[in-house]
Amino acid sequence: MIALALIVALATLLVGLAIAMLCRRLPTVRMQLAVFAVTAALLPLVAVIVAGAAMFGSSHDVTLVAVASASALAAAVGSLALGRSILGPLLRLRSASADLAAGDLGARVPEVGPEEVAAVAHSFNQMGDRLEELFDARRQLVAWASHDLRTPLASLQAMIEAVEDGLAEPQDYFSAMRDQVTALGALVDDLFELARLDSGAITLELEDTGVPGLVASCLRGVEAEASARQIRIEARIDDPLPLARCAPDKVERILSNLVRNALRHTPSDGSVAIVVRPRHREVVVQVEDSGEGFGAETLRMMFDRFWRGDRSRTGDGAGLGLAIARGLVEAHGGRIWAENRDEGGGRVCFTLPASADETALLPS
Ligand SMILES: Nc1ncnc2c1ncn2[C@@H]1O[C@H](COP(=O)(O)OP(=O)(O)OP(=O)(O)O)[C@@H](O)[C@H]1O
Ligand SMILES: [Mg+2]
Repeated sequence: MIALALIVALATLLVGLAIAMLCRRLPTVRMQLAVFAVTAALLPLVAVIVAGAAMFGSSHDVTLVAVASASALAAAVGSLALGRSILGPLLRLRSASADLAAGDLGARVPEVGPEEVAAVAHSFNQMGDRLEELFDARRQLVAWASHDLRTPLASLQAMIEAVEDGLAEPQDYFSAMRDQVTALGALVDDLFELARLDSGAITLELEDTGVPGLVASCLRGVEAEASARQIRIEARIDDPLPLARCAPDKVERILSNLVRNALRHTPSDGSVAIVVRPRHREVVVQVEDSGEGFGAETLRMMFDRFWRGDRSRTGDGAGLGLAIARGLVEAHGGRIWAENRDEGGGRVCFTLPASADETALLPS
């Protein structure tokens, strides 16, 4: 008797598994659910009838068959209704995805249906919002880049035409032309650096580096400009200071962008300082100036590409310096931010990871 029960149970299990496997080949969720439901109701019935026939010689139990058939029918209808509530939102999602792929960035779906399906709809809508933002940003980027590239080109063209028409001698314009070509070259370099940061193609040659050496080289580069404008510029560096784990050429670029900004926004007789100190497992670099400081909008926007405090000013930079600095700092795993100083003026700070060999020496 026990052997028979075991055989029936094993056979039921095997048949159930086989049907479940076959169900997965059915093309729609609706059909899979329906066949699952009917199987779940009929399989025990068949097993009971087979076992009953074997044990008692009776193969007819009309009541049992009727009850099992009714429950199989109810399960099939229920699963079809369930399939409909899952499939409705999925079909809407499919059609919205097709619209999005065809370029309709405003395609969205209602976030309804069972929790999991509503969560997928929510993620889809978020993806749509993000894509729309990215496309807007790209459109703006192209508009600003072409504007900033066109300005020096138009000026070069005007100078060449003046020379061609005999209105000026070539040597009158050589130095102005060189300035425009230098500005164009700098802009193209900045755009290239940003594109490499965006694509993740930038490779940082990380070394354990002394930040004071990088600060000294930056100061040498801007000394002449600072003294011409009577701006005091100094470095204040904590001692001892751990080595930083960074790409020296990239950190020089960040420092130069910040110090040039500070000089540009500091009036004559003002001062600029580069302050370097250790904190936790980082080296913190601050570029302070005694200029006008940052307004609320500047604090919000200054690290965005092509954003300039005063867009009406031309020839004063493209608004890429801080966007590049942020990209480079983040590629090192550091942070960059700006704040106003209590004593007036602004301060832009960034962090670099300290060398792993030296973090043990740092104050916590
Ligand atoms: N030290 C500062 N003090 C006041 N405002 C600043 C300072 N540094 C940056 N800003 C503001 O942030 C804006 C963006 O700076 P960013 O360095 O990205 O561009 P830029 O200096 O205008 O041009 P670029 O760096 O491409 O030559 C500046 O136009 C300016 O309005
Ligand atoms: Mg700048």
